[in-house]
Amino acid sequence: MYTIQTLNEISDKGLSLLPKDRYQISSDATDPDGIILRSFKMHDMEMSESLKAVARAGAGVNNIPLDVCTQKGIVVFNTPGANANSVKELVLTGMLISSRKIHDSITWSQTLKGKGAEVGKLVEKGKKNFAGPEILGKRLAVVGLGAIGVMVANAAVALGMEVYGFDPYISVESAWGLSRAVKRANSLEACIADADFLTIHVPLLDSTKHMVNDALLNKAKSGLRLLNFARGELVDNQAVIRAIEAGKVSAYVTDFPSDELLGVDGVIPIPHLGASTPEAEENCAIMAAQELAMFLETGNIKNS
Ligand code: MLT
Repeated sequence: MYTIQTLNEISDKGLSLLPKDRYQISSDATDPDGIILRSFKMHDMEMSESLKAVARAGAGVNNIPLDVCTQKGIVVFNTPGANANSVKELVLTGMLISSRKIHDSITWSQTLKGKGAEVGKLVEKGKKNFAGPEILGKRLAVVGLGAIGVMVANAAVALGMEVYGFDPYISVESAWGLSRAVKRANSLEACIADADFLTIHVPLLDSTKHMVNDALLNKAKSGLRLLNFARGELVDNQAVIRAIEAGKVSAYVTDFPSDELLGVDGVIPIPHLGASTPEAEENCAIMAAQELAMFLETGNIKNS
């Protein structure tokens, strides 16, 4: 019998794949063989001697102390691609919202409550104030061409955007099926040059922390719309605030709101909703449960 501890609510569709006669699943197991988690931060947690593997139901593994796991021989898995479509859909939403000023126009429209017969006239005013451009023909820079980056790039091509992609680690024939219409840039700077939109899809590592900083934003075209559905720390928030003040960045759509960003004009905060769909939660749970079971029963590893 294997004991699996869940450190977040994990979709039952995944957990129910594990046969009850061989797996005991509990959120308060003390000596688990495996852990399945979503965003729970494991850093301060004591890891039991029995622990053999940790499965992250999601892409990023920065909530898991990889150095401690490596020292103790604990295998860490993630679920690449399992939530990519949900994230892609929210990135596209973010591009459209920021371009058409939908967030501000909704907030403004709510203020018309109680204005009675005046509402019609005021709407005409809103129509002028909140006008914004189409995304058709605009240039999108996609940094990071893993599952999510590729899906975003391909969808943007389908919407008629001019798409540039940059990823130093992935060959032209990307494993995830990058559209041939996506132009490959040789450097981050070349990728973002003249971009109207920049979206980042890279893991958070020491080398990628604050990759969007003053130096990079200074090279961008004025009015850039920046989207971050990867990790908050990839972006130097103070640099973005400075770039907004200078008119370099016209919108920062972030799935990682922080106190310093809230209330800043041009920042569009979203409470980490990229993978919050029933479909993504189910896909991640299924992949995490399958991987964990395969490892515990056969010792084979797929996405470590
Ligand atoms: C991810 O890394 O894929 C996301 O953080 C998933 C989530 O929201 O749990």
